[in-house]
Amino acid sequence: MRGTWWREGVFYQIYPRSFQDSNGDGIGDLAGITARLDHLNDGTPRSLGIDAIWLSPFYRSPMADFGYDVSDYRDVDPTFGNLAEFDRLLAEAHRRNIRVIVDIVPGHTSDQHPWFKAARSSRTDPKRDYFVWANPRRGGPPNNWRAVFRRVGPAWTFDDQSGQYYLHHFLPEQPDLNWRNPAVRKEIDDIMRFWLDRGVDGFRVDVASGLIRDERLRDNPRFQLRGWPRRRNWDLDEVHEIHRGWRKVLDSYDGDRMAVGEIGVRNLRRHVRYYGEDDELQLSFNFHFLEQPWVAERFRAVVEEWERLLPAHAWPDYTLSNHDRSRATSRYGAERAGVAAMMLLTLRGTPFIYYGEEIGMTDVPIPSNRIVDIDGRDPERTPMQWDASPKGGFTTGDPWLPIGDTARTSVAAQRDDPASLFSLYRRLSWLRKSSPALRRGSYRTVPAARGIFAYAREADGHRALVALNFTASAQVVALGSGSGRVLLSTRHDRDGAEVDLARVELSPDEGVVLAPA
Ligand code: GLC
Ligand code: CA
Repeated sequence: MRGTWWREGVFYQIYPRSFQDSNGDGIGDLAGITARLDHLNDGTPRSLGIDAIWLSPFYRSPMADFGYDVSDYRDVDPTFGNLAEFDRLLAEAHRRNIRVIVDIVPGHTSDQHPWFKAARSSRTDPKRDYFVWANPRRGGPPNNWRAVFRRVGPAWTFDDQSGQYYLHHFLPEQPDLNWRNPAVRKEIDDIMRFWLDRGVDGFRVDVASGLIRDERLRDNPRFQLRGWPRRRNWDLDEVHEIHRGWRKVLDSYDGDRMAVGEIGVRNLRRHVRYYGEDDELQLSFNFHFLEQPWVAERFRAVVEEWERLLPAHAWPDYTLSNHDRSRATSRYGAERAGVAAMMLLTLRGTPFIYYGEEIGMTDVPIPSNRIVDIDGRDPERTPMQWDASPKGGFTTGDPWLPIGDTARTSVAAQRDDPASLFSLYRRLSWLRKSSPALRRGSYRTVPAARGIFAYAREADGHRALVALNFTASAQVVALGSGSGRVLLSTRHDRDGAEVDLARVELSPDEGVVLAPA
């Protein structure tokens, strides 16, 4: 069936700079990723059982925002390799039944992209209108819009050469494309086709909810109460038409291509609109889990609201970490990592795992002389910890960012330890594959005491019950009547045990998946 792979599969996000270095320059690259694919899926439960990877940008870039500032959308930056190495990565991934989606950055280019160089050369240049230009207002920026990166300040920079301001919602080195210009739409469509023709399975679309702005460049409201009055530079109704256009491009290919949009919209009612009438992007990457404190009722509320608001054709997805946010293990604490993993991999919805989460990597403190990101995101982007050596098996050279405590946390140390987080992730991922209920079943909350998040999943007569203890004390929960069997516990020593569903005992920070008899 169309869409099965991205509905039922498990995604894994790779930040190419930090996964594996293959040539000793201290920076991860595409050949390094290819060399590590067996970790993700070698067809057996010794591997993570990943079905799809999302590659953060690897295109030509001056790296002001580490690849999210693209100067050539159709080439690989020499830091990461070349197109032939990309093709090899894609072929090797496909050989292991791993799909590959690539990050596309349609909101802005690099200021070194030929379009912007031409655009700023004169007000009459044919490329001028690829970007958003405006005259000063009272000697300052054209309006009160602010960049997303707090340290940047106004979303406008004055260009001396042509005497106008240009818009940029991130760094000044990332000028915003003008999505009201049909020529821009066509350029990005063509870039998508370039990668689809090469065989990618789809895209992660950067800043997908923030592409189009108020045509008259009106100020944002000074005060907003519950998101109202709405901002004029984000989540405009017109953005949906752009997404419908991309869906048409995707659907014009065979092989079940898809896209997941980065949707930075807090209000779930506005958020579900990004699923359209099944004519927009198939998945909608969201930050709702990332914003919750470790409280069972808070996560339950997010899930219930999604379940209530999503139209029948739409499919949820969840994530606990990515390259822009503090890692889950740092936010919640290591003792909760198992319950967090179980929740992510047993809910109704596509899970997105951020590299390193499977071994409980934490944010790494960065000494001030090694800070490289303007927005404070280095700690969650440090190199993957493959083994217990000081450089973690990531590189033979000087790593571009400090490496965490590999003696405490690494793939090698956890591989053969049945009680490790890596073993739990693997068991969860393969259990999910073997269980129609977990892969595609319905969701129903099971009422439970405070601090417990419990739910039932069901498909074609297959049932699974999940109970997650968010507290640090032992609990007893009633999940139904009759007996059941522990399919999997975050404490590995309980697997297979018989339990009375009316009285399921949970240790502190324990989660269980049960099969009712
Ligand atoms: C997205 C990316 C982030 C990047 C920004 C600008 O939010 O996830 O890393 O800095 O867009 O492209
Ligand atoms: Ca390298």
